Amino acid sequence: MIQIAPSLLSADFLNLNQDLQKIEKSADWLHLDIMDGCFVPNISYGVSIVKAVREATSLPLDAHLMIVKPDRYLEQFARAGVNLITVHVETCDHLHRTLMRIKELGCKAGVALNPHIDPGFLKFLIKDLDLVLAMSVNPGFGGQSFIASTVEKIKQIKQIINESASAARPVIAVDGGINLENIAEVAAAGAEHFVAGSAVFKSEDPAGAVAELRRKAMFKKYHDYI
Ligand code: DX5
Ligand code: ZN
Repeated sequence: MIQIAPSLLSADFLNLNQDLQKIEKSADWLHLDIMDGCFVPNISYGVSIVKAVREATSLPLDAHLMIVKPDRYLEQFARAGVNLITVHVETCDHLHRTLMRIKELGCKAGVALNPHIDPGFLKFLIKDLDLVLAMSVNPGFGGQSFIASTVEKIKQIKQIINESASAARPVIAVDGGINLENIAEVAAAGAEHFVAGSAVFKSEDPAGAVAELRRKAMFKKYHDYI
């Protein structure tokens, strides 16, 4: 099932509630980019904004943690009401332990892979994951260009999932530079959950942009299927 997840990073920070209401009915998830200025060269926002956003929307929330040693903050984000916590494999000393902790806190668990990360390690974790997030830009900023090699990476991730003996099937997500021109190709490679910041919030009609992204992603998948 196609899921469109607008990223709050590209919203108007002085009018967050207004921007949230624009996509409330059309989006499937809200993506929250948490940046620490250390793992990534930018600082975004933290737990208090996430709490406020939780009050303002009924969309499920994904906290994409771009922070070093994310274990220190899992509980705070879970308490703030997020539904899914995604950590970067490079930031976790013991990734399996971190995923278990996220689930213990009552959230779904995701792992993000930067553009240079080989997805091979995923085969040992398929049953523990709800989502695999392929980064299609170097994390840190919205509005960057899609890195084309991500398409091949997504195909590899899909193959690893398909070859796994586990009945669990994590959702393949993609984050960075997704727009109306490339979403169909990325969907055809196997992604189902699409994070989109600029393509949604920089549009004149954010709800319409979500609908159009969904239409393009579904159209391609349908044609691959028949
Ligand atoms: C990048 C973030 C993305 C970003 C996507 O570090 O993880 O979620 O907000 O923004 P766009 O869609 O503009 O590339
Ligand atoms: Zn993100």
